[in-house]
Amino acid sequence: MPQHLTVVEHPLIQHKLTLMRDRTTSTAVFRQLLREISQLLAYEITRDLPMTTTRIDTPIQPMDAPTLDGRKLALISILRAGNGLLDGMLELIPSARVGFMGLYRDEQTLEPVEYYFKVPEQLDERVVIAVDPMLATGNSSAAAIARLKEAGARDIRFLCLLAAPEGVARMKAAHPDVPIVTAALDEKLNEKGYIVPGLGDAGDRMFGTK
Ligand code: URA
Repeated sequence: MPQHLTVVEHPLIQHKLTLMRDRTTSTAVFRQLLREISQLLAYEITRDLPMTTTRIDTPIQPMDAPTLDGRKLALISILRAGNGLLDGMLELIPSARVGFMGLYRDEQTLEPVEYYFKVPEQLDERVVIAVDPMLATGNSSAAAIARLKEAGARDIRFLCLLAAPEGVARMKAAHPDVPIVTAALDEKLNEKGYIVPGLGDAGDRMFGTK
């Protein structure tokens, strides 16, 4: 992917995102919209995947037809909100391998601490897409990407629903080689670290925990 940040301004994505931002949207509808947007974003982030050809027979004649090249993709969900993007993406890329990474913020050091890490093998040979709906401060996303690199990943992309300028800058400084695809770049973070105007806490809204 050539650019560090791609904001996908497709009308369907923007319309669905507006519905998600609306505080009166129910948990069920929020989750369904996230699933739909995740597929549209997945379409964009996989645009430049390497291709090869396979010899097949159509009912009419043989042909060398295009197919994806290389090992299966790895989708890495950053818990817990990343899971909201996962199912929709897997519908589009059903053979992808899936990993999970859990990080929490230590209240003393304010550093991200890993509590779960399980990822597919041979990450170095796969296109790796890390998913988390909200790129806010970028601290946990940058830590997650660093951990994936430590595990061998070389071709990493980051897919989110909303990004704050602070998070994009943090990611660009730490991982300039990792392109970001998002549905919107919002204005800023507030004093509590929420994206403004944003949509609130993505995990709470998709899982109904508040
Ligand atoms: N995480 C969220 O869920 N929402 C924000 O606005 C920022 C981080």
